[in-house]
Amino acid sequence: MEMRFKIFRFDPKVDAQPRYQNYVISAEPGERILDCLNRIKWDQDGTLSYRMSCGHGICGSDGLKINGRCALACQKLVRDYQGAEVVLEPLPFFPVLKDLIVDMEDFLKRIERLRPYLVAGTAPGEKERIQPPEEKKKLDAVIRCILCACCTGACPVMLENGKFIGPAALVWAFRFIFDSRDEVQSERLRQVDEPNGAWACVNHFECTRVCPKEIPVTKSINTIKREIERVLRKIGEP
Ligand code: SF4
Ligand code: FES
Repeated sequence: MEMRFKIFRFDPKVDAQPRYQNYVISAEPGERILDCLNRIKWDQDGTLSYRMSCGHGICGSDGLKINGRCALACQKLVRDYQGAEVVLEPLPFFPVLKDLIVDMEDFLKRIERLRPYLVAGTAPGEKERIQPPEEKKKLDAVIRCILCACCTGACPVMLENGKFIGPAALVWAFRFIFDSRDEVQSERLRQVDEPNGAWACVNHFECTRVCPKEIPVTKSINTIKREIERVLRKIGEP
């Protein structure tokens, strides 16, 4: 079938303003939007820039805005856009490096500041630090995060308040706050207990809607808020 694409183009080094460029290609219904991007680049316009790696929803590198909705280009099928023009834009909120490639540095730094690794003062046992299956179960959803940034790009709060730590960072905060082997839970809670931390989330649920790994992002943020109240403010304690 014939597919029409309208793609955001901008190279800040040479362009004064962003523009949109139209492309027409032929594609099969079962192909993915990423396959279309590759065909455009390989057959029509080698200057088009975007990120990709695994092609299978694992690496998180091809997060884009596809017809107004943040998603992975490798997870969206041509047949779902049949007959429509497909508009491809970079993730909102992020600075554009070139075309569909955005600067992820600040996004990753926000996560790095939360110490996304186990902190334990005690030495591990003879082998690894054992975690009971029921404790690990609490983390099963959030450990699926692939850092694609779709949630952050889709978050309406993020667009109004760039200082909000963002939904992806809070998913990573959750990952370690509720890890039974971690020994700095209170410090972690204090780090996100601030106006631009967990409390900036006002439950739009956009992050949850767009997350390609079906992580209950908003629910996780609300669980952090309740834990802040329980542990730091002793609210709800007997
Ligand atoms: Fe992507 Fe979901 Fe992780 Fe957000 S929470 S970065 S949408 S995988
Ligand atoms: Fe790796 Fe899409 S290319 S997640």
